[in-house]
Amino acid sequence: MARAKIALIGAGQIGGTLALLAGLKELGDIVMFDVAEGIPQGKSLDIAEASPVLGFDAKLSGTNSYEVIEGADVVIVTAGVPRKPGMSRSDLIGINLKVMEQVGAGIAKYAPDAFVICITNPLDAMVWALQKASGLPTHKVVGMAGVLDSARFRYFLADEFDVSVEDVTAFVLGGHGDDMVPLVRYSGVAGIPLPDLVAMNWTTQERVDAIVDRTRKGGGEIVNLLKTGSAFYAPAASAIEMATSYLRDKKRLLPAAAFLSGEYGVKDLYLGVPVIIGAKGVERVVEISLDKSERAMLDKSIASVQELVAECRKIAPDLG
Ligand code: APR
Repeated sequence: MARAKIALIGAGQIGGTLALLAGLKELGDIVMFDVAEGIPQGKSLDIAEASPVLGFDAKLSGTNSYEVIEGADVVIVTAGVPRKPGMSRSDLIGINLKVMEQVGAGIAKYAPDAFVICITNPLDAMVWALQKASGLPTHKVVGMAGVLDSARFRYFLADEFDVSVEDVTAFVLGGHGDDMVPLVRYSGVAGIPLPDLVAMNWTTQERVDAIVDRTRKGGGEIVNLLKTGSAFYAPAASAIEMATSYLRDKKRLLPAAAFLSGEYGVKDLYLGVPVIIGAKGVERVVEISLDKSERAMLDKSIASVQELVAECRKIAPDLG
């Protein structure tokens, strides 16, 4: 059987890491596209030259023209600009919206059957714009944020309890902004929910609250440390997990920015919710029950995403 084809649109910090991880996991052949001349060519050649040492078989190539993405099975989009210290994700909207319009047209022309994962920020608005601009079915276009936000939450919890990250599950709902909703009740260690772990004196409510707050601001913490850009290893790893679930029809239940048509009381909006990703794309949106305070936090997050999308509609009324 022919190898899958993975197209990476944007060959910057996340794009380069995506190419390396997709190679290491032998997900398929990899094409990198970027408007910057030489960058996709150089990075793909560098990674291809690492393949004999690392022991993986994948063809890698990089170019500045969209034709290379033709027939891609998966397209991962990181094109655009990242945050610098002092910026919020929404400060990127003007520039990155234009980029999504170009990228959407390229995908529509050359890879209309692909499963598309958007990483560009502000995520929930950019994935909405990318779907509109590409015209691909909504279940084939998703945004990567929840896996990353949950991974940060899991890492902080594993560190707090001094247990393996493998045994920590955590759930984050809502938009990929500072009012995302880390769900304490649905998070825990090997099936023991966080509230029980507090009752067992493994930690205190204050410490859990501090971890929730750190998770919400996890992206900003990295931006402030790096100063020249935003996180890239964990975002790339998270998108690769989603791509793997699609390509291998694993049907993982992962949090992702998915298009909602009434689920959670939301319509025509992308929002971080639990979904099942398999060979058909987003195969199911999972509606979990929320208590009053969780619902209130989700409503606040929905309002923020709606504001961002309204701004997109103002800048680009043609998107719909
Ligand atoms: N088409 C294709 N590529 C583009 C375009 C475009 N119209 N505009 C910019 N790019 C490319 C840049 O040339 C650059 O190589 O996108 C790449 C972005 O890479 P980085 O600046 O290194 O940013 P990165 O850290 O990879 O983050 C990309 O993901 O998490 C988000 O907030 C982050 O929006 C940012 C995106």
